[in-house]
Parts: sequence; structure tokens; C-alpha cells
Amino acid sequence: MKRKITIALDGPSGSGKSTIAKALSEKLDILYLDTGAMYRACGLKAEKSGISCKDEKGVMSFINDIDLKIVYSDGVQHTILDGEDVSKEIRRNEVSMLASDISALKCVRLKMVELQRQIAGEMSCVLDGRDIGTHVLPNADFKFFITASSDVRAERRKKELLFRGQEVSFETIKKEIEQRDFNDSHREFAPLRKADDAVEIDTSDMTPDEVLDKILAITGV
Ligand code: DC
Repeated sequence: MKRKITIALDGPSGSGKSTIAKALSEKLDILYLDTGAMYRACGLKAEKSGISCKDEKGVMSFINDIDLKIVYSDGVQHTILDGEDVSKEIRRNEVSMLASDISALKCVRLKMVELQRQIAGEMSCVLDGRDIGTHVLPNADFKFFITASSDVRAERRKKELLFRGQEVSFETIKKEIEQRDFNDSHREFAPLRKADDAVEIDTSDMTPDEVLDKILAITGV
């Protein structure tokens, strides 16, 4: 691909964004930036420091100097916190809610968005998150809003956690997903919202390949 392009994939937890973003980046041979991983790393940092993710003053004490790096090895994103690869640890189910809580803080978002824009400014990429099309890259070349019913999303998350060796009940996951939806879409600063110019795709009854084909047809790249 010669022209530099940016593709924004936003949507709620478990909508399938990351599966699609990964496949899309491979197909187009461009970078995939999982922005949720960055908020997860912030949540993990707070947990390790014994600071509540809702304690804005406490979080402010470390966020500006956070040692967080996103590196790529064989095209796979690795999240490095304080020199340690935490890519696996941040996928723990407990970290999901920490990430949702800490991501509501403006000081955290300002810092993460700075990093995201820096990465997206350097090369073609697909970014997945909650506020990419509305806030991080309002001028992205293509914007998609990926959704699915909460039952489908909970089932997908359950499978993903099981694959990673963590067994959590469907009911617990569904409740957590709905809580995160509420948190993420009701926060004051850059909430989860479909950008006016984003194409919405409900993936409830679609396979990843069908979603990918639809996106490729729309982008025409
Ligand atoms: O996509 P994820 O489940 O890994 O994201 C974890 C949390 O991070 C999510 O509940 C909300 C937050 N997040 C955000 O606020 N903005 C983003 N661009 C990405 C994630």
C-alpha cells in the first residue's frame, strides 16, 4: 500500500473489533494498534501501585511519567510496562474493569491519546477502541462502529477467556460487559459513541470473514 491511511474501528466490549482489526491489518499489511491494551496497562499499573483506578489524584501521581511502550514483534503488538512485557497479564478479566474505570479519567486519556496519535501519525494503521473516530483521529480515512448484542458479546468474551485459561460464568461476564458499556458511554470526556460519519456494522449474526469482506468492500483498498 502506497498511500498512508488510517482506519478507525470503534465499538463496545466484545463486539469483535480486535478480531476484525487484526485481520484487516494483515490483509492490508498495515499496523494494528489495540488502544484498549494501553488503558489496560494503565489499570494494571494502578493495581500494582495499590492505587484505586477511580482515585484521580493517585493516578495523576504516576500517569505522566508512566513507562509504557507499544512494540511490535513479527507484526504482533506487545505492551511493555516498566520494562516488562505485560501483554498476557492485561488480558486477565479483572483488568477489564480496571481499564474501564481508569479510562474515564481525563489525565489518563490525554496521555494515551498523545501516544496513539504519535503512532498513527507515523504509518498506515488500523486502530480499535472507543473514541478513535470521534476524538483520537476525527479525520481518519475510514470509520466503522462495530456492535453486537450483549448476549453474543458475552459468549465471545467467555470463549476468549477460556482460551486464555480463565473460566468465568456467562452471567458474570454479561453483567460486567453491560457495566463497562455504561461506564464507557457515560463518562464525561471522549465517551464511547458512534461518529456521525462512521458506518455501523452489527456483527451478531456475521462471521469474522463476512465482516472483513464488508469492510474491504466499503474501503475499496
Ligand atoms: O477494548 P478493551 O476491552 O481492551 O478496552 C478496555 C477498556 O479500555 C474499555 O472498557 C474502555 C477503555 N478504552 C477506552 O476508553 N478507549 C479506547 N480507545 C480503548 C479502550
